[in-house]
Amino acid sequence: MNLAELTARFRDAVARSSDARALDEVRIAFLGRSGAVTEVRKGIGKLPPSERPGAGKVINEAVQALEAELAAALARVENAALTRSLEDTSDVTFPGPPAKIGAIHPVRHVAIDVARYFTRHGFAVVLGPEIETDANNFDALNIPPDHPAREGLDSFYLRPDLVLRTHTSPMQVRAMRKHGPPIAIIVPGKAYRRDANDARHLFMFHQVEGLMVGHGIHFGHLKGMLVGMCRELFGPSADVRFRPSFFPFTEPSAEIDVKCPACAGTGEVAAVQCRTCGGSGWIELGGSGMVHPNVLRSVGYDPDAVTGWAFGCGLERIAMKRHDINDIRAFIENTPGFAEGLA
Ligand code: DAH
Repeated sequence: MNLAELTARFRDAVARSSDARALDEVRIAFLGRSGAVTEVRKGIGKLPPSERPGAGKVINEAVQALEAELAAALARVENAALTRSLEDTSDVTFPGPPAKIGAIHPVRHVAIDVARYFTRHGFAVVLGPEIETDANNFDALNIPPDHPAREGLDSFYLRPDLVLRTHTSPMQVRAMRKHGPPIAIIVPGKAYRRDANDARHLFMFHQVEGLMVGHGIHFGHLKGMLVGMCRELFGPSADVRFRPSFFPFTEPSAEIDVKCPACAGTGEVAAVQCRTCGGSGWIELGGSGMVHPNVLRSVGYDPDAVTGWAFGCGLERIAMKRHDINDIRAFIENTPGFAEGLA
């Protein structure tokens, strides 16, 4: 290779180099100690001695010039890289969006609050099966064979003798059969009814059952505990009303109403009918009463020795009132941010 050839190839290689690393490789290949220039220098030895110093000088000057070209090329690619990085407008120091951590579902929130209240008062929380015998779901609860709830139209029957429990009340039966009196439990859980889903019904919903049986238990105990529960759920000034009602498994029976927190029982908010209670001023939470002697008998308790109270409330119903939700389907629709907005 002669000097002209080396210069041409060198320039070609420099032109094809787009970054500092490539340029460094060019330097090593052409101007480095074992690079092409060394080969050219070796050619000096073949010249007559008088021409050698002149040739050496020419080569050295050429190498200096090529080194200068290399330095200029390096400055050029580094500048280009800097320009590219400045054109990227993203700010790497900008803080990222906060991580989504989710929220407890409002129905579970109610269950937790109810459980906290009752466990504080010595109650145990127990859970039961969602597939139940019709004997536990109905017979043991004094619900007669001709009761409408026992028709296939109202309940999900899996077999003639098995239903998806229509309420949490059969757990009263299971718990009393397992433990002798005294007993104090609550049972949160799912219940199923053959309803078409609409603004007020879901075919699957949640209840919490309460049961206390022992010597000398009376209706005053029921009222005291449930008034306390409502104050825990709706605030210390919540007003509670017990309205006479009927359930096959309690006698006497009462519906539990709480004074509407949205309108304070007036039925109106800013001169229009209160949306939360529909204008009645009261909200129905569920049923309650003194455990029917037939129920106590069915589990082997002696109704002359012990008495008890029980209640059952819908958890969605409580959550709807707490958060002013008007359509029960909101709980199962999984709309992003639903639970978060309420937490
Ligand atoms: N099981 C009833 C229902 O689902 C609610 C209920 C009423 C439960 C009275 C009770 C009770 O324990 O004493 O409608």
